[in-house]
Amino acid sequence: MSYDLVRGMYDILPDEIPWWTLAEEAMRETARRYNYREIRVPLVEHTELFTRGVGEATDIVSKEMYTFPDRGERSLTLRPEGTASVARAYLTHGWQTTEPFQKLFYLGPMFRYEKPQKGRNRQFHQYGIEVLGALDPSVDAEVIAFAWSLMELLGLGGLRLRLNSIGCAADRAQYREILRAHFAPSIDGMCDDCRRRLEENPLRILDCKEERCQAPIAGAPGSADHLCPDCAAHFAAVRDGLDRLNLAYDIDPRLVRGLDYYTRTVFELMSSDLGAQDTLIGGGRYDGLVEMLGGPPTPGIGFAGGFERLVLVLQERHPGEVEPERLDLFLATLGEGGRRAGMALATDLRAFGVSVDLDHRGRALRKQLTQANDQKARFLLVLGEDEARAGRGKLKDMDRGDERDVALDPEALAEAMFPGCDCGCEHHE
Ligand code: HAM
Repeated sequence: MSYDLVRGMYDILPDEIPWWTLAEEAMRETARRYNYREIRVPLVEHTELFTRGVGEATDIVSKEMYTFPDRGERSLTLRPEGTASVARAYLTHGWQTTEPFQKLFYLGPMFRYEKPQKGRNRQFHQYGIEVLGALDPSVDAEVIAFAWSLMELLGLGGLRLRLNSIGCAADRAQYREILRAHFAPSIDGMCDDCRRRLEENPLRILDCKEERCQAPIAGAPGSADHLCPDCAAHFAAVRDGLDRLNLAYDIDPRLVRGLDYYTRTVFELMSSDLGAQDTLIGGGRYDGLVEMLGGPPTPGIGFAGGFERLVLVLQERHPGEVEPERLDLFLATLGEGGRRAGMALATDLRAFGVSVDLDHRGRALRKQLTQANDQKARFLLVLGEDEARAGRGKLKDMDRGDERDVALDPEALAEAMFPGCDCGCEHHE
């Protein structure tokens, strides 16, 4: 029996949480500015949702899913991504008839049985958005603008957006044949996976990272050169929309993305700080997904990014800039009377929105003062039997170093620490 961490899973420790909070809050704030509503979908879905939605031939479905039978012999899967679940939720709640246009966002863990490395884990966390029910290229521009705004809010520059269009289903069928013809002469020198992909889905070959496959991939024809007039017009309008918003992008004619539901616009946001796993965000249109899941034809577009990678980039670009939240008050107590009075006062002050801590281990005063310093408490109050009896004590401002005599009344104390505030929150800024 071993209680080691499961490979590819990890703990996010208290010291790292401020980075995560920063990233999560930026995501929520960007969603607020763009008017996206949060949705929380289950971690577990019927396996078929992903085999159909994401595609049998994709890496995710063919080798990365955590799939298991439940006690009723249903095949269930830990969600490897969020888009299929959001499309499922759209149909589950009948939004196709009641509220067909939806702008949604989500945050949460996803599971893929991949080879763990920096920025790639088996349980990882995504932030993502999905817009369902609109085909207009302005939505594509908005979704990409959202991604840029999020990075801007986090102060992250130096990123690169790769953009492409893979067209509609008919375009893709034609493009697949073009790729087959292109790769056929060199396929014997390519990897086993690519040999299989040539038959199953030659688009997947373009994602291959094997060294010996790179030369044929580099010479492959681009999908955007083989679009029908409607898809070509849509792609031109998306680029025009981005130009008008002054959002920079590079056209990458061989960007196809690793999930089968994509149609037309696909994009990735890359960071040079990440090494091999350099994709911060990946996204695109999936105009056929809802229909594939049994609903009416419904356009959709969105993106998702990995929090782990975002946190890595934030730590790289802004080292030491994220401070944990400070404790407002440390109550150092002396004797049993001081401790009892301290417990009561702490509880009352917390009801006023003040963060308070005190010793629970009967430690000497010196040790308690060290604890107050370590926790970067803003204020310190020493509470002994005398103070408890008199109902007064000395409140020390730890930043300024001065002390003043105060009544041990929660309201008076809160006012002494944070003058002029009666809201009980955010008063210590
Ligand atoms: P994806 O490209 O599979 O797309 O994943 C999106 C992002 O999730 C990646 O760019 C990366 O930042 C992060 N990610 C993926 N796998 C891992 C992993 N094993 N460890 C850490 N981070 C990872 C999707 O999931 C689509 N659902 C995106 C989408 C939404 N398209 C349209 N709407």
